Order: sequence, then C-alpha cells, then structure tokens
Amino acid sequence: MPDTLTFTHIPTPTPTPAAEREAILAKGGFGTAFSDHMVTIEWTEGRGWHDAQIRKREPFQIDPAAAVLHYAQEIFEGLKAYRAESGGVTLFRADQNAKRLNNSATRLAMPQLPEASFLEAVESLVRIDKDWIPGGNGSLYLRPFMFANEPFLGVRPAHHFIFSVIASPVGDYFKHGPKPVNVWLSKEYTRAAVGGTGAAKCGGNYAASLIAQGQAYDNGCDQVLFLDAAEHRWIEELGGMNIFFVRDDGSLFTTPLGTILPGITRASLIELATSKGIQVEERKYSFEEFQADAQSGKVTEAFACGTAAVLAAIGEIRFTGGSFKIGDGNGGPLTATLRDELVGIQRGRIADTRGWVRKV
Ligand code: PLP
Ligand code: COI
Repeated sequence: MPDTLTFTHIPTPTPTPAAEREAILAKGGFGTAFSDHMVTIEWTEGRGWHDAQIRKREPFQIDPAAAVLHYAQEIFEGLKAYRAESGGVTLFRADQNAKRLNNSATRLAMPQLPEASFLEAVESLVRIDKDWIPGGNGSLYLRPFMFANEPFLGVRPAHHFIFSVIASPVGDYFKHGPKPVNVWLSKEYTRAAVGGTGAAKCGGNYAASLIAQGQAYDNGCDQVLFLDAAEHRWIEELGGMNIFFVRDDGSLFTTPLGTILPGITRASLIELATSKGIQVEERKYSFEEFQADAQSGKVTEAFACGTAAVLAAIGEIRFTGGSFKIGDGNGGPLTATLRDELVGIQRGRIADTRGWVRKV
C-alpha cells in the first residue's frame, strides 16, 4: 500500500454565508457547530485505504447492521487548529494524534492509517475551512475518527471501515468559562481495567463513563474522577482529561500511564515543567492520600488537562458523604503559569523550540 493517498477535493457548492458563519463563531461554546466540509477515507479488507475525499459535510448513510452500531468498533482523536497571533494557522503536535490513533486502532483491531495521510486529511480540512477558525481564545476543534461500517452481525473485526475528520469552532469547553471546575469522585463506577481499553481513545470508554458524568452534573460537578478498577483506591484520570497535582514545595506530579489515556497535553506539560526546572513525578496516588494532602495544605493545586479543556484548575472535589477544596478553591499560580506557557506556544506567542507547532 502506498504511504500517501491521493485526496479528491470537492468543495461544497453551498458554503455557509459569511454573516451566518461569523454569528456562529461569535457564540463560542463547545462542539455544537460544525464547519462546511469533512474528510472521508474508506478501508476495505484486501484493498486497503481508498476513496480519500475532502467534501461537503453531510450525514453518513449507514446500514442498520453496520458493526459500529452493535459492537462499538470505533476510535477517535481530538486536536485543535489555532489562528496564530502573527497570522497564519497552526496545529499542535498533530503527529502525536496520528500515532495515538494507530495505537487505538491496534487495540480495537482496526487498520493503521499512514501518519502522512492522517496529517494530510487534517491539514486539508483546516485549509478548506480556515474561515471557520475563531479569533481570540477560540480554535477549530478537529475530530478525526474511524468506525466499522460493515453490515455484519457476527462478532469479529470488521472488513470495512470509514475514517473521517470533522471540524467544530470552539471556545471554552466548560460552560462557566475559565473558572475552576468541581470534580465528582465516582466511588461506584470505574473507567478502565488492566488489559482493557483505558489507554485507547475509543467511543466505548466514554459510553461507559456517562452514567457517572450524569451523577457529576447532578452534584454540581463538571467532570468525574475515576479510580482504578481493582482496588477502587488509586486515582486514574477524569472522564475526558488527565489530572496533575502541585505540592507545597512547588513540585508537580501526575498519575502513571497504563490504564489512562496517554494525553498529549499531559506529555507536553511534563516536558515544559521539567525544562523550567520544576520537579515532575509520575506516581500512583491514592484518593485517601489526596484528600489528606489537600486538607493539610501539602497539595496546593490540582488541575485537569486535555486538548478540549486546555488546563482547568480544580476547585473542589465532591463525593457521596463529603467534599473538600484544593487550596482556597480558586486555582493557583503554577496552573496559571503552565496554561499561559502552553497556550503561548500553541498560538505562536512563545517560541516553539521543540518542533511541536505545525504551520498549515
Ligand atoms: N483523558 C481522556 C479520557 C481524554 O478524553 C482526553 C482528551 O483527549 C485526555 C485524557 C487528554 O488527552 P489530550 O491531552 O491528548 O487531549
Ligand atoms: C479532547 O480533549 O480532545 C477530548 O476528546 C475530550 C473530550 C472531553 C472532548
């Protein structure tokens, strides 16, 4: 199979009128509006990838027996295109999304998409829909995904898949904006077990998290904190973000890889903080220890991080029978510094010395 595919470009004859688009962009929010185009590439057993297209965004025609609808053979990615402060458009570490998609594909018994084709797909969509990138703090959230499209009810890896990319102009992920988030500890439900799919970005992980997410909303929280499946003791991550903690000595730590999603923001922050001389540790951390450390002031900050959320300070943890604040509940200085530095690099305000930023 060639390492790059030839993409056919079929621009929509009916793009959204500029005034309507600008009104949509002005609204902010997350994931409710979509750009004019999409990418689709098909994969067929024995033939490989074919029919790569950049075309009008429209609904899929999907057979009711398509494997994804029954057995959830689906994976996805999330990355953002930014309007750089100096003009131009940038992507942040898109090669890492390409690699993670393929790791998820391996776990879900799906085909590998060559990294060059992933990058071309994403960049082509950004180019054709560049007017959909909001200015200011907004960005164009890109959602590459792959699903099993074979109509077949037997349980085995499918023989036909669609890879697609759609784009959504976004502002803040949390509807209350940049203020600290409250997090709900799920004592009942877990997200991932050893040998399971926790490290893959597959739709099924999120489906299984939704009952706990509903409980989080019922309790005035924005995200769920999941513990390990075996002992219900060790902190893993949030429903859609990784988690970091700051000690009173200024050092930083986060939970180890294994059953959590290996976040690209997480890896970038470890590198950024380390190069600023901040001590960073990846260690197992029990919820019990976290509560004691927050209450004694040994842990002064905690934050959630991910592409959608960027860095969000955690103000309070709630659970059945109690709650506690982290610091004064208003976030802290290291969270703010790391956020500024990461966003500065992503938007070209701070020089990128690591080759993380791709110009589109
Ligand atoms: N953990 C989960 C469960 C996620 O859904 C995400 C978001 O993609 C992350 C962590 C953060 O990953 P990244 O920083 O690559 O966006
Ligand atoms: C992302 O950050 O890209 C995610 O997929 C997480 C989700 C909460 C939107």
